[in-house]
Amino acid sequence: MSLRRIPKDRYLSREALLLERERLWRRVWLLAGHASMLDAPGSFFTFETGVESLLLSRDAGGRARAFHNVCQHRGTRLCAEDRGHVESFRCPYHAWTYGLDGALLRAPGMRCAPEALPRGLSELRCEELGGFVWVCLDAEAESLDVFLGPLLPKLVAYEARGYRLTHDLTVEIACNWKTSADVSNEAYHLRSLHPELCAVVDDTRITVERLGLHGRITVPVGAPSPGTPYEGKVAGALRELLKQSGLDPARFEGDPGSVRPALLTAAKERAAAAGWTLPGLEEAQLLDKHQLYVFPNVQLNFTLHRLEIYRHRPHPEDPQVTYFDEQAYERSGGEGGRGVRPLPQRRRIRHGEAPLGPVMGADVDLLPELQRGMASSGFSELLLGEGERAIETMHQGLQHYLHGTERPT
Ligand code: FES
Repeated sequence: MSLRRIPKDRYLSREALLLERERLWRRVWLLAGHASMLDAPGSFFTFETGVESLLLSRDAGGRARAFHNVCQHRGTRLCAEDRGHVESFRCPYHAWTYGLDGALLRAPGMRCAPEALPRGLSELRCEELGGFVWVCLDAEAESLDVFLGPLLPKLVAYEARGYRLTHDLTVEIACNWKTSADVSNEAYHLRSLHPELCAVVDDTRITVERLGLHGRITVPVGAPSPGTPYEGKVAGALRELLKQSGLDPARFEGDPGSVRPALLTAAKERAAAAGWTLPGLEEAQLLDKHQLYVFPNVQLNFTLHRLEIYRHRPHPEDPQVTYFDEQAYERSGGEGGRGVRPLPQRRRIRHGEAPLGPVMGADVDLLPELQRGMASSGFSELLLGEGERAIETMHQGLQHYLHGTERPT
C-alpha cells in the first residue's frame, strides 16, 4: 500500500479554520449529547462548537428541541449553565423569557405591538437517534439517516438509550481539533505509546472499517500482542481483566489461549444476568472494544457495559486550540434508574492542570508537541500508512465538505 500524504496547513492555518466554519460545521449533523441529558420535560443542556453556542431542551410534549443559545432582543447568550432543569429560559439582560419550545413568552416593558416582536428563539434541526441527540445548523442539509449512512445500523445495535452519565470532562489542549481526533482514530501507536496495553490487546488483529463518511475500529481484547514481552503470558492488564471478570488468573497460567474464550463466556453471563439482550450485536462485541467514528469529530467507544464519548471541538478563532470532551456512561439496564441519581458536574480544565489517567494522559500529553512539530519548517506533510486509514477517511470527508470532492462511500 502506498502512503497517503496530507498537507500540514489543514492543521495550522486560520484559512482552514474559517473554511471549516463556513462549509463544515454549519452543514454536518453534530452529535450534541446523549439523550439521557434530556431526561424529562424541562431538562436542557448547552454546548459550544466554534463560534456557535447551542441550547438543547426537551419541551413539554417530550420532544427534543435545539436552538441558537442567543436572546433575540440584543443577542445576549441566553443560558450560561451546562445543563439543568427549568420551566422557561430567562435572558439575564432585560428578562425576555422563552418557553421550552423556544417561543417568546414575555418581553417586559417593550411598548410595541406583539406582532413586532420575534416569535421566539432561532430553532435548529434536531433529532434523537440511537440514544443520542443530534443537531444540524443547515436547514437544507441531508437527513440524519442519510448522513449516518452505513454507520446507522452499527450505532443503533448498541441500544445506547440505557446509559447514564458518570464522568464529564472538557480539556483545553494546545492543538488543532484534528490533531486531537487523529490520536483516537488510529491504534498504530499502541506498541510505542501504550506498551502496557499489549498485555491484553492483540494489535495485529485490530481492524479498521470505512463506513461512508464514518468508520469503525475493532480492538480485540483478551490475548497479548505477538512479538511483545507479553506474548504467551497472562500478565499485567490481562490479569486485571480476568480478576474484574471474576476469573482466577492462576487458572490460565501456561494456557493463555484459553483466556479469551473464558472472558467471552463471562461477558455473555454478565449480559444475561443484567438483562442486556442486545440482539443486534455480534457475540465478540460483548468483549471487544468497538470505536465508532462519527464524522467529523466524535468517537463512540463501546464495551459491554460502558460507553466513552470523545469529542474534539474547534476553538472559535485559534486553529491551534481544541476543546476535548471526554464523557463516560455506564449501562444501567433498560430505562431503569432514569432520573434517580443526579448527573455529575462537568469539569473544565486546561491540559496539565489535572491527571487524565495513564492511557488518555499519554495521548493528550503528546498533542501539543505534535502540533508544535507540524509548524516546523522542517516538516511539510503528514504521511499515513495502512494502520492510519481512519485518518485518511476523515480527510476525504473534509475534502468533500470543504471543496466538493467525491463523498467517501
Ligand atoms: S438581550 Fe436578552 S432581554 Fe435584552
